[in-house]
Amino acid sequence: MNSKTKTYELDLQLTPHTTWSQKFWDDLIPAKDKVSSHPLFTDMANGKLSAHCFRNTLLNFYPLVAHFPSYMAMSLAKATQFATPGVTEARNWLIQNIKIEERHLDWYRDWAGGFGLSVETLDTTRPPAAVNAINHYLWSINYRGTLAEGIAATNLAIEWATGDWSIQVYKGIESYANHPEININKRSLAWLRAHAHYDDLHPHEAMELIKRLCDGQPELQQKAFEAAQEGLAYYALALDACYEQQ
Ligand SMILES: [Fe+2]
Repeated sequence: MNSKTKTYELDLQLTPHTTWSQKFWDDLIPAKDKVSSHPLFTDMANGKLSAHCFRNTLLNFYPLVAHFPSYMAMSLAKATQFATPGVTEARNWLIQNIKIEERHLDWYRDWAGGFGLSVETLDTTRPPAAVNAINHYLWSINYRGTLAEGIAATNLAIEWATGDWSIQVYKGIESYANHPEININKRSLAWLRAHAHYDDLHPHEAMELIKRLCDGQPELQQKAFEAAQEGLAYYALALDACYEQQ
């Protein structure tokens, strides 16, 4: 056997949607669009958002970015019943996704740094309650929910909406290039560039895991759907609160 021949599959293979998973995905789109088409992101993409509000938003969302792998780690801790369909794949996928997030903390700090925020300011921030609610929710659902609920709330909901708005904001970010207090360069754009590009498979892979974990179990499907919907509702709430501060 060739030493390079894989005896196991590390990459998660996407399968066609079933009736329930297609409906699950389609029914989430309005809640996802409420986040990705939020006026705060539209203003960011058009260069209309004030530097003050942009900076404040970057500061307020820092804990979500910084703790994202920790939320996934709580789901990973639950992925132990390998005889249950989808659990081994969820374990492998979460480990890979957590590893990817390792670099994202530094990249986000570079982006925030371009807007004048020091690492010390970021590390000591205490977002307003309406913004921080998403963090409490993700700690909670990943701690006490099922594996499918954690993945639905964290990887499907948050990563899906984030990939969508990142594409728009990345396209328009050059409009801030000449601002005297803002430094836009290759380094400060690494986080945005990454999320506008290669993260876009994550929501589809998260949906694939939910399909495998919940197949034939309508109750689990419903709970996972509600977890994703709630994650997106908290995301929108956080954006509303940032937008009101401008
Ligand atoms: Fe990320």
